[in-house]
Amino acid sequence: MPNALFLTLEGIDGAGKSSHIDALAALFTAAGRQVTRTREPGGTPLAESLRNMVLSEPMDPLTESLLVFAARRDHVVRVIEPALARGDVVLCDRFTDATFAYQGGGRGFDLQVLSTLERWVQSHGETDDLLQPDLTLWFTLPPEIAAERLAGARLPDRFESQPLDFFRRVADGYAARADAAPTRFARIDADLPREQVWAQIESVLRERGIA
Ligand code: TMP
Repeated sequence: MPNALFLTLEGIDGAGKSSHIDALAALFTAAGRQVTRTREPGGTPLAESLRNMVLSEPMDPLTESLLVFAARRDHVVRVIEPALARGDVVLCDRFTDATFAYQGGGRGFDLQVLSTLERWVQSHGETDDLLQPDLTLWFTLPPEIAAERLAGARLPDRFESQPLDFFRRVADGYAARADAAPTRFARIDADLPREQVWAQIESVLRERGIA
């Protein structure tokens, strides 16, 4: 579908990415586009149940990785692929880059296993192509500042309660994914006032002829 667009938002907890999804949805809607707004883990009833488990139950990194990819499979099949087939703009708060960053970087889990799961879950029909976002807005800020932003917020989940070193590894995990797909990733400096963060997003969309 020529007009379909799969856009993801990524970054460590506290980077402020989710607060820009409303504005993105409004921008595309004003341009006459149908928008499917969703998130991971989650986006379907089954995937939301798996999300609750992943965010609250103790488990080993393989179990965690299998659950996030199981949630993703349900989400891809039921929501993302049908929306792209309709020609929608799909705005997804996190996708597979988060698995490489959190389970791969943060938890130190085997990247080869994650790549195998990615292939199983994101394969398109009979071709070898993998479903991947067209554009990933990668919100970056020093993990120390993200931790300050999170401190005192709502009750932390299993990831938000991790020590600073975990988030340093997550940030390194994102950087490795960005190095491997430099045209897909657009880096957004999130250590700036909100309007300046939004201005960067607008300029990325303009540069790419998206909006
Ligand atoms: P959220 O708070 O941005 O909705 O994300 C939920 C948490 O889940 C966040 O701490 C990152 C984590 N996560 C993973 O560990 N692996 C994944 O594949 C995804 C999508 C999220």
